[in-house]
Amino acid sequence: MEKKIYIASDHAGYEMKSKLCAYFKTFIDLGTNSNASVDYADFAHNLTNNVSQNEDSLGILICGTGVGMSMAANRKKGIRAGLVNSPEITRLIRQHNNANVLVLPGRFMADEEAKNCVQIFLETEFEAGRHKKRIEKI
Ligand code: RB5
Repeated sequence: MEKKIYIASDHAGYEMKSKLCAYFKTFIDLGTNSNASVDYADFAHNLTNNVSQNEDSLGILICGTGVGMSMAANRKKGIRAGLVNSPEITRLIRQHNNANVLVLPGRFMADEEAKNCVQIFLETEFEAGRHKKRIEKI
């Protein structure tokens, strides 16, 4: 079965989310669905519940800075959400941290770079080895 990829944003990430959904057509879009103001934590909690309940699934969250989404997502046991600002860091949060949620700063990243980061997030595997015991200590 194909790996499920969930995506959600608040109003500040709505436009970037729409562009990513148009490009990555199989994403499961959990809202928000307009530019109207909403609370990022509601969308982070819904997405992390879905990722937790679906083995091997991944999530993508977008808010203005990415910080609120990161804080909310990482409250959930088993979620390792990483806020990135470059393709290099995106690669490392998969290889070293086995991140299962990618967080993007919608107001501080160009759409093309966001697309690139998402592609890398989806394609990069966890290296395990020495990183496994570090993750187990979180
Ligand atoms: C919304 O204005 C903004 O505060 C939110 O998107 C996010 O940046 C919070 O961390």
